[in-house]
Amino acid sequence: FLFVSIKKICLTALTELTNTLKAGKAPLRKPGTARDDTVSASSNMDMEDRVSHLEQRLQLQEDEIQLLKAALADALRRLGYCEEQSQGKQPGGVHAGRRSLATTAAAPTKGKRASMSTERLTLVRREMGAESRSRTTSSSSSSGEDSYVRMFLRGRPVTMHVPDQQKGTYSLDQKVALPDHKLKLQWVYGYRGRDCRSNLYLLPTGEIVYFNASVVVLYNTEEQQQRHYLGHNDDVKCLSVHPDMVTIATGQVAGNSKDGKLLAPHVRVWDSVSLNTLHVLGMGVFDRAVTCVAFSKSNGGTFLCAVDDANDHILSVWNWQKEKQLAEVKCSNDSVLAAVFHPMDTNLIVTCGKSHINFWTMEGNTLTKRQGLFEKHEKPKYVLCVAFAENGDAITGDSSGNLYIWAKGGTRISQVVSGAHEGGIFSVCVLKDGTMVSGGGKDRKVVLWDHDYRKKATMEVGESFGPVRALAEGKPGELFVGTTKNAIIRAAFPDTLTPIVQGHTDELWGLDIHPTMEQFVTCSQDKQVHLWDAHSHQPLWSKTIEDPGRSAGFHPSGAVLAVGTMTGKWLVLDTDTRDLVSMHTDGNEIISNVKYSPDGNFLAVASHDNFVYIYAVTENGRKYSRVGKCTGHSSFVTHVDWSKDSHYLVTNSGDYEILFCKCCSTVFIALVLTLPLALSFCFFVFLCLAGIWPDGADGTDINAVCRSHDGSLLASADDFGKVHLFSFPCSQPRAQSQEYGGHSSHVTNVAFLHDDSHLISTGGKDTSILQWVVA
Ligand SMILES: *[C@@H]1O[C@H](CO)[C@@H](O)[C@H](O)[C@H]1NC(C)=O
Ligand SMILES: *[C@@H]1O[C@H](CO)[C@@H](O)[C@H](O)[C@H]1NC(C)=O
Repeated sequence: FLFVSIKKICLTALTELTNTLKAGKAPLRKPGTARDDTVSASSNMDMEDRVSHLEQRLQLQEDEIQLLKAALADALRRLGYCEEQSQGKQPGGVHAGRRSLATTAAAPTKGKRASMSTERLTLVRREMGAESRSRTTSSSSSSGEDSYVRMFLRGRPVTMHVPDQQKGTYSLDQKVALPDHKLKLQWVYGYRGRDCRSNLYLLPTGEIVYFNASVVVLYNTEEQQQRHYLGHNDDVKCLSVHPDMVTIATGQVAGNSKDGKLLAPHVRVWDSVSLNTLHVLGMGVFDRAVTCVAFSKSNGGTFLCAVDDANDHILSVWNWQKEKQLAEVKCSNDSVLAAVFHPMDTNLIVTCGKSHINFWTMEGNTLTKRQGLFEKHEKPKYVLCVAFAENGDAITGDSSGNLYIWAKGGTRISQVVSGAHEGGIFSVCVLKDGTMVSGGGKDRKVVLWDHDYRKKATMEVGESFGPVRALAEGKPGELFVGTTKNAIIRAAFPDTLTPIVQGHTDELWGLDIHPTMEQFVTCSQDKQVHLWDAHSHQPLWSKTIEDPGRSAGFHPSGAVLAVGTMTGKWLVLDTDTRDLVSMHTDGNEIISNVKYSPDGNFLAVASHDNFVYIYAVTENGRKYSRVGKCTGHSSFVTHVDWSKDSHYLVTNSGDYEILFCKCCSTVFIALVLTLPLALSFCFFVFLCLAGIWPDGADGTDINAVCRSHDGSLLASADDFGKVHLFSFPCSQPRAQSQEYGGHSSHVTNVAFLHDDSHLISTGGKDTSILQWVVA
C-alpha cells in the first residue's frame, strides 16, 4: 500500500513537472513578478537585455525542474526495485519440492499395447525383435517390450525410445502443464557499438541507457542494477532521449517471426521510469530499418524525426504524441548516419552521412534541402557525426579527422579544426559547461576541447576495447565511452578508464556453467574466452586463444575447463589462472561439444567430422589420453550427453539421429536402455523431447536444451531469438512453454547456473549474453 501511494504521488508530481516543462513559459510568471513588464517598459533596460534576462531565468527554472525530476525519477526507480524485492521472496526458488525424475516414473503396466498417432507423432509399442531394426545390438532389451515415439521433423522420422519407467503409462494425449517458474531478465552482457551511433546517454535516474539485440538496457552503474525495456521484437538500431529526459524513442529493424511473418520496422516511444510504451510509430511505413531517430528540442520535444535505411533513406518527421506523420522526403541515395533537430530551431533538421551534410527546413509538410558546402575545405568521404555548440553552431566530425563548425543557420563552414583526430571522428558531445569532447576511430582517443576548440586534454582507449563509438556526459567530470568492440567504459580525464560493459564480438555458441560457483564460461569465434562472475556481471578473466571458439565445458571439479574450437583443436585451461593445461587436435572440423563425464574421468569431444572422441582424464583434469572414438553417425555430431553413471554417451547428429555409445568402446550401439541422463542436453531424447518441437519444426529450429539441476525445468534455445521454459520431463508432444524474447538472432545455448537460480542464454549473431532469474 505504502509503495503504491508513494508511487502515485511521485508519478503525479512527475507528470506535472513534465507538463510544466513542456508548457515552457508557465512557471516564469510568478505572482508579483508578472507586472515587471509594464514597469520596466519605461526603464532604460533595452529589449534585448530583457529577453536574455528572461531566457536565463527560464533556463534556471528548467534546470531546477530537471533536478527535481531526476530526484523523483530516481525515487520511483528505487521504489520499483524495493517493491520487486519484497514480492519476489518466495523462498527456495526452484528447489522447493519439485517433481523429480524418480517420482514421475510409474510402475510399468506390462503388455498394454496401443498405437496412436497425431499429425506428426506416433507412439509405437512392439515386442523386441518383432521388427528388425538397423543398428540393433540389443545388449539390453531385457524388458521384452519396446516403446518409442516416432516424430516427423520436416518429413524425416525421429525415433525416441520411451524409458522403461514410463512405458506403461505414457500416452500422447496427456498434457504437460506450464512450468510453475518464470524467467525474468536480470542482466544483459553487451552493448551494440559495432555499427550503431549516438546510442549511449545518462538519464536523471543515474542510469545509462543503450541497447543490445532487441533489449534496451537501463543500467545504474553505481548500484549495479539493470532494468530493461522489452517492447521490441528485433534488433534496436537507434535511440533518442526526449528533452524531458524521461521519454525515450527507439527504432528497430525489420525481422521475421517464427511463422515466417514480417515484423515491421518501427519506432517505440516509452517512459523510462515506468517502462510503459506510450506510442508506436510507423508500423507499415518504414521499410527496412529505422537507423536514426531524434526528438526536437526547442518546441518541448513535440516532433520526432527518423531515417529509414532503405535505398532512398527516407527522412520523416512525426508528431509522436498524435502518432501522425507530418512530412517525409528522400534524404540521400547514400547512407545517412545521423539526423538531428537543431536545438533552437524546431523547423531545422541536420542530416549527414556519406559525403554529405544537409540542412532541412520544414514548412508545413514539406522539407526543403540545403546542402552543406565544403568549398575550399577537404570534402570528407563521410560526415560521421554532428552536435551543436551552445551558440547554435553545428559541429561535425568526419572520416578525415577534421572538425568543421557550421555557423548557426548557414550552410557554410565558419571554422575548421583540422587533424583533430588521426583517422575518423565517430562522436562529438557538447558538455553542459559548453566545452566539448570528441572520440576518434583509428586513434581511439577521447579529446576534450575548450569553448574555442583548443585541445585541453586527451586520453586513449585501450586497443582491446577498440575505437570510440559514442560519448555521453556522466556525473560532473565523468564520461561514458561506448566503443566499436562493444564495450562501455566509464572515463574521466586525465586517464581513468574503467570498463563496465564488455562482451563477445563474433558468433557465440560456447557456454558452460561452473559446477559449484556462480560463474560461467563463454567462448566465441572472436577467439576470446571469458570467465564471468554471474554476480558482479564482470569477467573474472578473459583469454585470447589462437582459433575461433565454439564450445566449452567445465570439469566437474571446477579446476579446469575445456574449450572446443572451429578447427578441430581443443584446449584445457586452468579455471583460476587461465593457463593452458593441455591442447589436442581431433580432425579438422568444428568441435561442437566438449563434455566431461559426471565422474570427471572422461571427456567427450564431439566433432562435425561425425565422430565423438573419448579421452580418459586423470590428475583432476590435467592429463588426457584417448581411449575411444564413437563412429556411426552419418552426419555431424551436434550434441552429447552422459549417463549419470558415466558409462554411456548419447549423441545427436545433424541427421536427427540418436545414438548411444558405451564408454569407452569404439562403436555406437543402438540402445533401448533407459539411461538416466546427466543433464539432458540432447534434444532428440525422449524425456526432453517430444515436447520441445513446435508444429512444422525443422530439426535445426532448436539449437540447445538444458535441464535444471533439480530436474524440474527444461529450457530450450530456438532459432527465432526465443528462450523457452518447459516443465520437465517434456515428453508430451507440443508441450506448452513460456517464451522469452530479448535475443535478436538464433539463440545458440542455454544453461542453468549450478544452483538453478539463474539461466544464461547466448545469442549467435547478436553475440549477447542474457542472464535470467528463475523466479
Ligand atoms: C550485443 O552485445 C555484444 C557484446 O557487447 C556485442 O558484441 C554485440 O554486437 C551486441 N549485439 C547486438 C545485436 O546488439
Ligand atoms: C538517386 O539515384 C537516382 C537513380 O540512381 C537518381 O535519379 C537520383 O537523382 C539520385 N538522387 C540523389 C539525391 O542523388
